[in-house]
Amino acid sequence: MNAHFDTQSGSGDAAHAGIELSEFFDGHPVATFAINTDHVVTHWNKACEQLLGWSKEEMVGTQNHWQAFYPKQRPLLADLIISGEEDEIDRHYLGKHKRSTLIPGAFESEDFFPNIGESGHWLHFTAAPLRDRQGQVVGAIETLRDVTERRVAENALRKAHDNLESVIEKRTAQLAEVNGRLEDDIRQRQLADAELRRRNVELEQLNEQLSMAQQQLVQSEKLASIGQLAAGVAHEINNPIGYIFSNFGTLQSYLDQLFEMLAAYQDAEASIAAPEVAARVRAMRERIDLDFLREDIPSLMDESKEGIVRVRHIVQDLKDFSRVDANQEWVWADLHQGIDSTLNIVSNEVKYKADVVKEYGAIPDIECLPLQINQVVMNLVVNAAHAIGPERGRITVRTGTGCDQVWLEVADTGSGIAPEALSRIFDPFFTTKAVGKGTGLGLSLAYGIVQKHKGKIEVSTELGKGTCFRVTLPIRHPADARDNQEAKEAKEASQ
Ligand SMILES: Nc1ncnc2c1ncn2[C@@H]1O[C@H](COP(=O)(O)OP(=O)(O)O)[C@@H](O)[C@H]1O
Ligand SMILES: [Mg+2]
Repeated sequence: MNAHFDTQSGSGDAAHAGIELSEFFDGHPVATFAINTDHVVTHWNKACEQLLGWSKEEMVGTQNHWQAFYPKQRPLLADLIISGEEDEIDRHYLGKHKRSTLIPGAFESEDFFPNIGESGHWLHFTAAPLRDRQGQVVGAIETLRDVTERRVAENALRKAHDNLESVIEKRTAQLAEVNGRLEDDIRQRQLADAELRRRNVELEQLNEQLSMAQQQLVQSEKLASIGQLAAGVAHEINNPIGYIFSNFGTLQSYLDQLFEMLAAYQDAEASIAAPEVAARVRAMRERIDLDFLREDIPSLMDESKEGIVRVRHIVQDLKDFSRVDANQEWVWADLHQGIDSTLNIVSNEVKYKADVVKEYGAIPDIECLPLQINQVVMNLVVNAAHAIGPERGRITVRTGTGCDQVWLEVADTGSGIAPEALSRIFDPFFTTKAVGKGTGLGLSLAYGIVQKHKGKIEVSTELGKGTCFRVTLPIRHPADARDNQEAKEAKEASQ
């Protein structure tokens, strides 16, 4: 629209121009009205009539154009443009208006008019001044565009948008929550996983302990049954061997006497008067080879005696072995003293084969059965001596302490233990030694004693290099129910 509406354009005749303008107005599809400077409506076109529901006749020539828009009288944008006071426009349109970018001096605005039509209308309206040729304002023209549909669509869109945003917000919140839950879940899973792992480690440890306990149980079961057997056998053999041994002493002295007597007879032989008697005696002496008998009987006797001594020794070992569980006093004892005296006892067995080196640490007294501990040391030292070959070796006895325990080691430079034998050395009667040299009871005895002390016995060995046995014992004997029971029984038995 051209705002420089020249009312006197065309022929220069104002009335003619007015008619032309009216026709133009009427035919124009955009609702338009015009007022003069007295705010009297000069034009009100068809589109305006349709849009606002007020006829041209009702409006033209009046100042009632406000009625088409508002329930109360007030100036329209066209009225305000005539006065040209922008402050007034501001006051009435509360900043909802703006200057037109196309038409100088024109303003436009958009608003909702609840009075128009059944349910009101959104109108976009533009008002521009009408000037005469000299540029003098002679009126104002206002065009109205019904933007209800657009606004409704916009509103719907905005609503939909708002809805969408709220949905998105809700979804986002839900997602965040789900995410949080998932994270929680993951955290819990990780925790559960760690817990599971820990349990597994615990279980593995328990399992290991169990299998160790089982091994010990098997070992101690073996010891217990062997112990009973040994005790029975030892008891049965002990008596006959006892009297054989003492009879043997007597027999020896009788034999000595008999040989003396025989010597006397031999001396008297020469003075036998009857020649046939003398011949018979001589023949007999030669037949039985008396000289040989005289030589051989003592050596037979010696061998037999040695045999009997050996049997007694075995029986003694068996008795010791079966007595592992017999009751003794738990006392506080100096381990070093026990080791020293034991080394003295076995020095005969050791001194030709090895040097004994003592490497004692500073250790406290321990609560133990000293005689049994001595027995352990003796068995270990004797084994060490046996393991050393023809070349002179070394036996090192070490002691030390740490965390409520003391330990003692017997290390040798001997043969070492073959892998296939290693798992059996603590078994009763397992021996690799020649018949008569080993009973196979030493280590199982030691094992039983150490177990009774709630300690442990370990071995490390290298074939051809040597072996080291380490015995670890608690400083204080942890009494258990079985010990107490035994002590009670022993007390009752001694009464
Ligand atoms: N220090 C050692 N060096 C090498 N082998 C050893 C040692 N101690 C023990 N053994 C082995 O363990 C076996 C069992 O020992 P033990 O129970 O004392 O019975 P024994 O000494 O009567 O054979 C021995 O025969 C030997 O093979
Ligand atoms: Mg032995």
